[in-house]
Amino acid sequence: MKKKLIAGNWKMNASLAANESLVRALQAGLAANPARCDVAVCVSAPYLAQLQGLLAPGGMALGAQDVSAFEAGAYTGEVSASMLKEFGVRYCLVGHSERRLYHGESDALVASKAQRALAAGITPIVCIGETLAEREAGRTEEVVKRQLAAVIAANGHCVSEIVVAYEPVWAIGTGKTASPEQAQQVHAVLRAQLQAASAHAERIQILYGGSMNAANAEQLLAQADIDGGLIGGAALKSADFLTIIAAAQ
Ligand code: 13P
Repeated sequence: MKKKLIAGNWKMNASLAANESLVRALQAGLAANPARCDVAVCVSAPYLAQLQGLLAPGGMALGAQDVSAFEAGAYTGEVSASMLKEFGVRYCLVGHSERRLYHGESDALVASKAQRALAAGITPIVCIGETLAEREAGRTEEVVKRQLAAVIAANGHCVSEIVVAYEPVWAIGTGKTASPEQAQQVHAVLRAQLQAASAHAERIQILYGGSMNAANAEQLLAQADIDGGLIGGAALKSADFLTIIAAAQ
């Protein structure tokens, strides 16, 4: 059975002091109760160097929250995949719904970002998910398949190297979670789509995200096609994040 991945997305919540105490608390918890899954924390770019110093080899992996679609050059404010790589970044979120919404990121741009990450040896965690209006209109499958298809088209057989995160937009930060059955249903659709694109689709981790917490993680993670979680709010509380990690066996 493939290992699950539990990734924390700290979003724009961080400070040098808060990061250090959160990481130390997580490390103490994991020393007492070692994880049986992969664990990552995705932090804002200015803190990558700090986290690189705090994280020990073989422990929690370092993740970024975004990457430029360009390789290098006159792109003020952008951070390239090769820059991330220099700071020991192992994973990078791409296409989070907050970037699609607030920064107008298109499916094609997200696919290019995934490509840049892969080329630099970073695993992109490709985020997809439908809005409430799309779900209510019965368009969930169509939307997530379209979002994933762009990444498959741009990345060909390399798609077996990505991680997918299904994050229904209506469940993010709202306290509303997709039921395990609702989530599994979408994950199964995504798995089938990946299988049609790659002979190695079985190894692709498909994470669920959207108000996953210490209380609901176990049930969600028990679903056949849920291979981990992408956690926002609950990843900022060490006890909650450790409980989620423990639920991922
Ligand atoms: P919450 O866990 O706070 O709902 O956030 C989910 C998310 O957006 C993770 O990327």
